[in-house]
Parts: sequence; structure tokens; C-alpha cells
Amino acid sequence: MKGIILSGGAGTRLHPVTLPMSKQLLPVYDKPMIYYPLSVLMLAGITDILIISTPRDLPQFEHLFGDGSTLGLNITYGVQETPRGLADAFLIGADHIGDDPAALILGDNVFHGPRFSEVLQENARDVDGCVLFGYPVNDPSRYGVGVTDGAGRLVSLEEKPENPRSNMAITGLYFYDNEVVDIAKNIQPSPRGELEITDVNRVYLDRGRAKLVTLGRGFAWLDTGTHDSLLQAGQYVQTVEQRQGLRIACLEEIALRRGLIDADACHAIGAGLGKTAYGQYLMTIAAEHRTEALACAS
Ligand code: TTP
Repeated sequence: MKGIILSGGAGTRLHPVTLPMSKQLLPVYDKPMIYYPLSVLMLAGITDILIISTPRDLPQFEHLFGDGSTLGLNITYGVQETPRGLADAFLIGADHIGDDPAALILGDNVFHGPRFSEVLQENARDVDGCVLFGYPVNDPSRYGVGVTDGAGRLVSLEEKPENPRSNMAITGLYFYDNEVVDIAKNIQPSPRGELEITDVNRVYLDRGRAKLVTLGRGFAWLDTGTHDSLLQAGQYVQTVEQRQGLRIACLEEIALRRGLIDADACHAIGAGLGKTAYGQYLMTIAAEHRTEALACAS
């Protein structure tokens, strides 16, 4: 499965902070926002990833990740000239997707919860149609809202409904079979001139091939689009990380645990980050990994 992180947009709700720079490079506590969606794709087992951003901001993402090889990934880049909507990702990413299924994640979505890797990997396998991820919210009118038949099949999808039929918001993570490229090519832009992801999802819904996986209690899907929600997301990450001594969306740790890099590489990245707690953490987990490997071998 190929991955796409859509990381453009104007970030108008975060002005003036985002007047000169990308929202998705702003810190969510101890790391750039884009680490969080990238970690989700890595946890799903995806290594071939396209990052899409604006002509202005794309060079900074390239500076941050290069070709992805230090994380054992293959990262490429695509330009979105103007914010033409989320489904535009499949037009920009058509060559990248090729004949494979595709996962799209929005560059400003933060997910964290138990057994998330398992949920991701189970649903990334043999995608037939599309898989959406729902999260209960107390203000569903702000989101795309889904209803399932009880067996996980999506039966209704409404965009920002005044009277929502459920409290299940559709999150910014989507898995599709390869037909998504053709479907995206054939939908009409909205009156605002955007290719809406809901229109793509509705095609799958009408064909009876849309699944909605519920991310339930104990799970966090955090917004980062406004000053308050960005701060709250940072405080959530700080609270959990300081309490557990474990890091959320630590890309090098995920790469190490998934066998994409070895302990020496992880240690070297940590050492390169100087005196930061993040760098210390990488060196510690590299050492632990070596000890575990030795214990397994003996
Ligand atoms: P939004 O939050 O809808 O838009 P935005 O990030 O530009 O913010 P604002 O509403 O404050 O102006 O976008 C959700 C995510 O999708 C975000 O990561 C930006 C990205 N995006 C694109 O990359 N291209 C697009 O055409 C759109 C609409 C969004």
C-alpha cells in the first residue's frame, strides 16, 4: 500500500502564525506536527510515502526528511499549487499510487490509542473499497458524519450536517483500493472549486463498499487547526509522554521496532540531536533494543 500525507492548505485559522510557514511544521509539544501522521502510516506498515504541500512549504519538508532513507522509508514529494481539496491528493499522487491501494492521511491529524498498529495493519490488508475511521465527538456538525449498519458497513455519510444522524466524525485517515484514482478523476469540484473527499467516499458508499472502523473510548483523535486545539494537542502529548516515559510518534523508534533501521542508526540520530530529551530517548531505546536482541540470541 502506498501512503500520502496531504500537508498543504492555507492554515487560515492559525494566522498570523501560519502566514510565513506551514501549519504542519509547527510543534505539537516536542516534534513537528507532520511526525504524527507520518507515524500512523509507518505503524500501518507503509514505507513508500508521498508528502504533498504548497510550492512555498515543500522545500522545508524535503529539508526535514530528505528521501526518507534515514528512517528506512522512501519519501517523495508532490506540489499542490492551490488548496484544491483533499481528493486532489489522488490526482497529484496518481503516479505514486500506480497499481497499488492507497492510504491518505491529513498532515494535521494526531491519533493516539491502544492497539492502533493492529487496527491499522488489519485494515490495510486487502482493502476492498474504502476504509474510513470514525471517532465519536460532541460536536458532529463540524465534520463529515457516518452511520454504520452495526457490522461496520457505512450506510450514510453527511458533510457538516445540521442535524447529524450520529456522533461519529470521519477522521482524516482513509484507506482505498486502487480505484480511488479513477473515482477522484471523475468527481466534480464543489462550488468552492474543491475536490471533496466526501464525494469520493460517497461513490464507495453507493457501491456498498465503504467500511467505517470506530476508534472508540480510550482513543485520542486530536485537532490542531486552531490556536486552542494546537495547544491542547501539545499538552496531551506532554502529559502522556511525561507520565509514561514513552514517546508518541517517535519516528525513529517506530523505524527501529519495525526493523527499518538498526540500533546503531537509531543511536546515531539520537546523538546528533545533542542534549535534547528526544535525542536521549533515542539513545536509550537503541541501547534497550541491543540488550533485547542479545537476550533473544542467547
Ligand atoms: P483544513 O484544516 O481544511 O484547511 P487548512 O489546513 O488550510 O486550515 P484552515 O481551515 O485554517 O485554513 O485542511 C485539513 C488538512 O488538509 C490540512 O493538513 C491541510 C490539508 N489540505 C491540503 O493540503 N490541501 C487542500 O486542498 C486542503 C483543503 C487541505
